[in-house]
Amino acid sequence: MTATLPRTTREVRLAAIPDGLPTQEHFAVVETPLPEPGTGQVLVRNRYFLVFPGLRTLIGGEVDGLPLPPLRSGDTLFGPAVGEVVAASADSPLRTGDAVAHMLGWREFALVSAAECTPLDDALPDPVAHLAQGSAAYGALTRLADVRVGDVVFVTGAAGAVGSLAGQIARLLGARRVIGSTGSPEKAERLVSELGYDAVVLRGAGPFAAQVAEAAPEGIDVLVDTVAGEQLAAALGAARQGARFALVGALSGQLSAQRAGGSAPVEIDAYRLVVKGVSLHGYSGADHPDVEKEWTSRFGDWLRSGKISFPYARIAGIDRAPQALQELIEGRHFGAVVVEL
Ligand SMILES: NC(=O)c1ccc[n+]([C@@H]2O[C@H](COP(=O)([O-])OP(=O)(O)OC[C@H]3O[C@@H](n4cnc5c(N)ncnc54)[C@H](OP(=O)(O)O)[C@@H]3O)[C@@H](O)[C@H]2O)c1
Repeated sequence: MTATLPRTTREVRLAAIPDGLPTQEHFAVVETPLPEPGTGQVLVRNRYFLVFPGLRTLIGGEVDGLPLPPLRSGDTLFGPAVGEVVAASADSPLRTGDAVAHMLGWREFALVSAAECTPLDDALPDPVAHLAQGSAAYGALTRLADVRVGDVVFVTGAAGAVGSLAGQIARLLGARRVIGSTGSPEKAERLVSELGYDAVVLRGAGPFAAQVAEAAPEGIDVLVDTVAGEQLAAALGAARQGARFALVGALSGQLSAQRAGGSAPVEIDAYRLVVKGVSLHGYSGADHPDVEKEWTSRFGDWLRSGKISFPYARIAGIDRAPQALQELIEGRHFGAVVVEL
């Protein structure tokens, strides 16, 4: 192991299971001895990790059908991260200095199986862009909603990690009008001025059905839904004949204090679904293994040519990570939320 490495490292653990939504008091930043890589392992110095709403579901324990394990009291949090290999076992295909992506964020140094690391090439101009959540948006738009030139597209949760890219991608793929939803007038203004949205509807500013009807008077062809609930029902009300709805997330249930984070029931008018011939598909990345590579290549091209921007809030230091999760849940940030170490 290299002499410049510290003896200890810090990580964020779940200190207590919340009754309702987690706040920063439910987490602890804990110092622990720096581990050494065993057979097939590497030690990675994390540079960035993602703060994401799915953690709420893992903490809530309603994880049926999820690809990730639940988080119990005392567990270290995890999630997408990028960093640099600082020590590797002799049999590892990775070497010191290699840049990698992996799933053991929320710690300064991660002991990871080399097989669970993705080496980073120069497909993206900045390593932090590997934490962008555009792959789900791109997959939903190209594989499920089949967005076409001239479409009117509605993106719910438009200022979030997925939504802030979904609207831009829809436009790049030919959408004529892109409308979004968000939780504050400030974010609505940024969606229009920075990300090119044509109109924005606001959570907490009256019934969505009326707001969507005004924002998209001719109706919508495509929905990329990260919220569900009342917003999904309103989108169905505004659907044009043959509209394609791609359901990517369910923030209305996931971030509800009254629910455990793994369900989002909503009443929709099945009769409208039938007469309008609307298709309703859930998006799971695992069902579309070809999307990630295609997305990364296009994202890199679009970033380099300035056709897309990757909005994210950069939070400095692991000490602020628990607060960053609370702020994400409170809707205080625009775009993805990333902790920089
Ligand atoms: N299917 C997949 O492959 C895939 C991949 C990635 C993510 N997802 C899912 O997609 C969804 C969006 O993920 P993300 O990372 O982009 O999250 P995100 O939008 O960045 O999550 C935070 C935002 O949620 C909104 N919010 C907070 N409370 C809410 C409530 N009660 N109702 C509605 N919105 C609320 C706030 O935005 P506003 O203030 O703007 O309302 C907040 O800024 C999540 O459900 C996530 O699990 C799915």
